[in-house]
Amino acid sequence: MTPDAPAALAAEAGALTAAAIATLEAVGSVAELTAARPDLLGRGSPLTGLRRRLGGLAPEDRPVAGRALSEALATVEARYDARLEELRAAERRRQLEAERLDLTELAEPPPLGRLHVITQTQRRLEDVFCAMGYTVAEGPEIETEWHNFGALNFPPGHPARDMYDTLYVDHGPPAGTLLRTHTSPVQVRVMQNQSPPLYVVAPGRCYRQDTADATHMPVFHQIEGLVIDDGITLGDLAGAIETFTTAYFGPGFTSRLRPSYFPFTEPSAEFDVQRPDGTWLELGGCGVVHPSVLEVCGVDSERWSGFAFGFGIDRLAMIRYGIADLRDLWTNDVRFLEQF
Ligand code: DAH
Repeated sequence: MTPDAPAALAAEAGALTAAAIATLEAVGSVAELTAARPDLLGRGSPLTGLRRRLGGLAPEDRPVAGRALSEALATVEARYDARLEELRAAERRRQLEAERLDLTELAEPPPLGRLHVITQTQRRLEDVFCAMGYTVAEGPEIETEWHNFGALNFPPGHPARDMYDTLYVDHGPPAGTLLRTHTSPVQVRVMQNQSPPLYVVAPGRCYRQDTADATHMPVFHQIEGLVIDDGITLGDLAGAIETFTTAYFGPGFTSRLRPSYFPFTEPSAEFDVQRPDGTWLELGGCGVVHPSVLEVCGVDSERWSGFAFGFGIDRLAMIRYGIADLRDLWTNDVRFLEQF
């Protein structure tokens, strides 16, 4: 047998190396790469197999050819290792990308509640009157019959005291206590507890025995005003109502007083607000505080005079926000409430 020419062996080693490198470039994953290893570098691989043919070379050719074979194996081995590193890195990158947490993502803020539309309306009214120099007072919702009616000049037989209007509570002498039917008793408490000059508003809940419908509720809200100072007249009342009207409703709105009757004011009036389109809106009652109310509350009616007014908050909110049915204010349907 003719000895293998070293050049032929070297050429074959070169071709096998090139083929092995092409295979290494073609595999797409670490798993494919390691599966290909026995065929490329294993003991049974064609390249390793060339070693067995070294024996067929002339002895002087063996070292050179042997070194060339080793180098070919080392080249494939090195390329294998590099490719393994590349594929591992690529797989790590893919995994990291898949598991990535976006820490810059903004979480939805928790939903916040809001103030009820009546509370919002009440606070706005308080703001307007505070800006006009009034302070805010409160009184109890369970009142004495005397504060609610007696001190305010409602004679004992007055129809407003009737069981059909007033909700009496069993809390003391019979018919002695009731759920206040208006905020006017706070006038009495303020005059009893503070000295003039007084500029006070008193918002709050009131109760009347009424059947609920679109425009009436047995529970409703009023805001009361009381001013006691030197030489206060009906003119001051008209001025205060007008100032409030423009401050609350805006320019283009004006007010008027119409004669009326309330037992605790003399003279008494209703006040209306005129919208820019000329239509009128009845708002509430008012008047010059009756001297006997001043006296019964401990205010010297020779020295001081004053005016008072009161109106419904719920009706104001209905008009301002276009609410058609008062009962919606009480059903607590968020779809209704979150509109305001
Ligand atoms: N308290 C009255 C009512 O509920 C409203 C009212 C009228 C209040 C005249 C006043 C006033 O302060 O002066 O119908």
